Amino acid sequence: MYRCRTCAVVGNSGNLLGSHYGGAYIDNHDFVFRMNKAPVQGYEKDVGSRTTHRIMYPESATHLDNNTHLVLLPFKISFQGYEKDVGSRTTHRIMYPESATHLDNNTHLVLLPFKISCGSPVMVMHPAFMHYVHNAWLHIKSRRSYPSTGFLVLIFAMHICDEVNVFGFGANSKGTWHHYFEKTPKSFKRTGKHSGGIECETVLELHKRRLMDLYTGW
Ligand code: C5P
Repeated sequence: MYRCRTCAVVGNSGNLLGSHYGGAYIDNHDFVFRMNKAPVQGYEKDVGSRTTHRIMYPESATHLDNNTHLVLLPFKISFQGYEKDVGSRTTHRIMYPESATHLDNNTHLVLLPFKISCGSPVMVMHPAFMHYVHNAWLHIKSRRSYPSTGFLVLIFAMHICDEVNVFGFGANSKGTWHHYFEKTPKSFKRTGKHSGGIECETVLELHKRRLMDLYTGW
């Protein structure tokens, strides 16, 4: 019998502090995705305590407990080698390896490298998926920028979950961008190499269209 799969994507924003999203919201999802070094200990009330998957670039590597799958983003992409222009007529076909089928020359294949229920504790996000997010969702032309970890996970979740709820993204109510786990919060702006402005707009648009729900904490 088909059961709706729910996913919580938990970013690291300081807007989680005081949100009380912990047990009742976040932990009740089938999958709880967290990123990089984000701690749960001491923050359970606001961020929950379950982590089914932790997603990170290699330089953010951190200790994982035995119940958490690691999803490794293999590298930061510069996209050399993906020179082909992705124009409006290009389509993308997203599939698991066993569904592989013949593609015409105008179609990009975005391979989902694994089924998320598989037993392996380590998974690697396929670079083609990262490239697909960069091109099809952010329409970024520059090869010097790349999607943030959070944005990659959000789009990934939308492909594998029936219901996606997003926490810990964006600024707090005062407009400050920081991490919930920093003792003395340093505010930062999501710009630079992450194309933060486009990501923010896209996240708000997805929320508006009810393709996922964004919980801002305020
Ligand atoms: O900072 P870090 O990359 O570890 O945070 C993980 C993700 O959480 C980011 O990629 C971003 O999507 C999200 N985040 C956010 N707003 C913040 C902090 C983090 O949207 N203030």
